[in-house]
Amino acid sequence: MARQLTLYLVLIMLVASGMTSQPSSAQSDTSLRHLASATGRYLGAAVKPELLQTDEAYRQTLLNEFNLVVTEDALKMAALRPTQGEYSFYGSDAVISFAQANGLAVRGHVLLWHDSVPAWLSAGNFTREEIMTILHDHITTVVSRYRGVIFAWDVVNEAFNEDGTLRDSFFLRTIGPEYIEYAFQWAAAADPNALLFYNDYSIEDGNPKSDAVFALLSSLRARGIPVHGVGFQSHLQLIYPPNYDSMTVNMQRFAAVGLQIHLTELDVRIQGIDLPTEQLLIEQAEVYRIMTRLCLQTLACTAMITWGVGDRYSWIYEYTGHPDAPLMFDNDFQPKPAYFVMWETLAAAVQQTPVFPEDGEPGVTGAIPLISPPQPLTSPSVPGQ
Ligand code: XIL
Repeated sequence: MARQLTLYLVLIMLVASGMTSQPSSAQSDTSLRHLASATGRYLGAAVKPELLQTDEAYRQTLLNEFNLVVTEDALKMAALRPTQGEYSFYGSDAVISFAQANGLAVRGHVLLWHDSVPAWLSAGNFTREEIMTILHDHITTVVSRYRGVIFAWDVVNEAFNEDGTLRDSFFLRTIGPEYIEYAFQWAAAADPNALLFYNDYSIEDGNPKSDAVFALLSSLRARGIPVHGVGFQSHLQLIYPPNYDSMTVNMQRFAAVGLQIHLTELDVRIQGIDLPTEQLLIEQAEVYRIMTRLCLQTLACTAMITWGVGDRYSWIYEYTGHPDAPLMFDNDFQPKPAYFVMWETLAAAVQQTPVFPEDGEPGVTGAIPLISPPQPLTSPSVPGQ
């Protein structure tokens, strides 16, 4: 383990001094975004509009390494609808025009989420019919505005409990379980070409919650409701190591009913284990390797998205109240072991991929190789060698 740590530290120093082929510009052939494109995948990051203006390292890292953005908070209903009569598109427009100017794909997050219902709506004493009208208008307005630009939407987020029952949300209480299919139908009417996703956490492996999501999405599709994908949020923690076999089987069952899969909010918390941080970062990198392999081995898995660009502005500190380091870039936007492992894993897949997309843009093209299951950590090779 000490040798591996030394190797990683040497690697990071080499990169910092520009001695490796680690990317230095958006055009670099060895950026993560280029490698991801060559495997037919998007590699995305959740973005906050203000940081694009205020933090040059944030902006540059996003441009160098990612080919997709998702609005972290700007499109949530509570943010977008301060009052019933108002749509505040300032933040989402800023992220989306930045993406368009720089050739980044855009995912939309999120149309209906129990945790982002504005007070004027939840406390408004509206009838069921009125709430249906408000939500229909909301979805229609937001999806239409970005028709042809936002290629994939999280339509419904986190509708289930861990035991597989439906969450007792404002939407369930006021409309009933059918709110989910209404939301998908309204979104499809507003942009018939958008890919419409159901998104949730703790559904990456087989468990009562992922069983319930699978049952719902399969039955919606069988009934012709326009559901095209499932988002596995992938908020992971080192203290709960992922079960690769269970995740593989789970991903394959969603793919088998014709759904695309996006890893939508990937991050890996390291807190809670009493080991030196350097070692935790190496173990964290192994979780990134597992998730990258999981996606690469399934043709239907077309995007991997980290929930933030780097540790500095991750939501985890605010959420847990503890310091952490869940992403691939550190507080100074320097690459961490997780970055190098992501690089290695993508590069290995590219080398084995028989068909490369000609224009380098993502899309499901040709065969993506099946790669061997994850092995215990081996010494990292230097990117570009
Ligand atoms: C989080 C954002 O990252 C924070 O900035 C915000 O304060 C709360 O929401 N699951 C989701 C995301 O679907 O929308 C959440 O994002 C994280 C958990």
